[in-house]
Amino acid sequence: MKVLVTGGAGYIGSHTCIQLIKHGHTPVVIDNLCNSKAVVLDRIECVTGTRPAFMQGDVRDSSFLKRVFATHAVDSVIHFAGLKAVGESVEKPLKYYDTNVSGTLNLVREMQAANINSLIFSSSATVYGEPASVPIQEDFPTAATNPYGRSKLMAEECLRDFQHANPDWSITLLRYFNPVGAHDSGLLGEDPQGTPNNLLPFVAQVAVGRREKLGVFGNDYPTPDGTGVRDYIHVVDLADGHLAALDKLAYQAGIHVFNLGTGQGHSVLDMLHAFEAVAKRPIPYEIKPRRAGDIAECYADPACAKATLGWSAKKDLQTMVEDTWRWQSKNPNGYGG
Ligand code: NAD
Ligand code: UFG
Repeated sequence: MKVLVTGGAGYIGSHTCIQLIKHGHTPVVIDNLCNSKAVVLDRIECVTGTRPAFMQGDVRDSSFLKRVFATHAVDSVIHFAGLKAVGESVEKPLKYYDTNVSGTLNLVREMQAANINSLIFSSSATVYGEPASVPIQEDFPTAATNPYGRSKLMAEECLRDFQHANPDWSITLLRYFNPVGAHDSGLLGEDPQGTPNNLLPFVAQVAVGRREKLGVFGNDYPTPDGTGVRDYIHVVDLADGHLAALDKLAYQAGIHVFNLGTGQGHSVLDMLHAFEAVAKRPIPYEIKPRRAGDIAECYADPACAKATLGWSAKKDLQTMVEDTWRWQSKNPNGYGG
């Protein structure tokens, strides 16, 4: 299949391009490079031997999208392009609604004009807000605790209404839990700009000497060691989840919703100790107050993805940490190094 990958130069998009190529698909990347670098395309070529077609531009720009669809006859679209920093979304909510909601609506409008009716959308476990229990199933109530989460929830709801009005469309909402890890070549990985918001990139930067110590946000949660528990999933497993959705559902009309997680929870200290063992060095940390908006525990029930897509996560915590460390130690300054 020829697949338009919006945000394909980003962390999850680039790994998905590699898996698409490996499985005989043809990705076409669009990205405005606001949170990524064009060198990612070189790395994809280095790993796969194929350089994806690339057009630089913004999903909010209708004339750009018209050009993209006029240039490439794509069968389906995977829509990763978006902004994801929770803290920034609180300070600049309109920026998040503009990119994550308006950008998605604009994309759908231009897809419709180009007669393409197959879409996979990057959603997030954040749409469950503070779940009443774990593991989380797809039919749990949704709620947003910050503008980023609300932008994902709004986009999901807009897509549901749109699919209802256009029943020949196939729209798949994939709710990711906590993506971590990197390509096992050490050539691609996560390259956060500025101070990392997420746990594993922060730990990796401490291990490589870019930061002094990790702040652990709270050790008084009702969890086995008091620190927050999350469902960390290897980015290549996550990428494979998109391939499974494409293979099974690209031509199945309907609105389809799946959790993409492992079903296993790990605490902050589990992650820290796993990283210390792999990097063979102590990782200094201090306990800090809880971070506003954080929840104690969040992990998926991944049964629905397994039953319908035949997909489940394969890579264990050791592999997630080893791959992260290989990427970080080979590229201490990310793609800019
Ligand atoms: P990322 O920032 O690495 O990738 C997003 C890409 O989209 C970047 O390359 C960026 O330059 C591009 N982009 C942003 N705005 C754009 C626009 N207006 N037009 C064109 N390109 C634009 O992030 P990621 O971690 O790869 O996340 C991909 C998607 O998955 C996002 O929608 C994110 O919200 C969602 N998601 C991520 C996580 C996570 O923890 N990484 C968790 C759940 C959901
Ligand atoms: N944590 C620390 N110190 C840090 C960073 C994080 O102790 O410096 C802790 C957090 O308190 C939490 C755990 O590590 O207990 C994971 O935190 P992350 O920031 O890595 O991930 P979150 O679960 O908070 O959120 C992430 C994304 C959201 C997304 C959500 C679900 O940032 O955008 O996963 O997919 F919505």
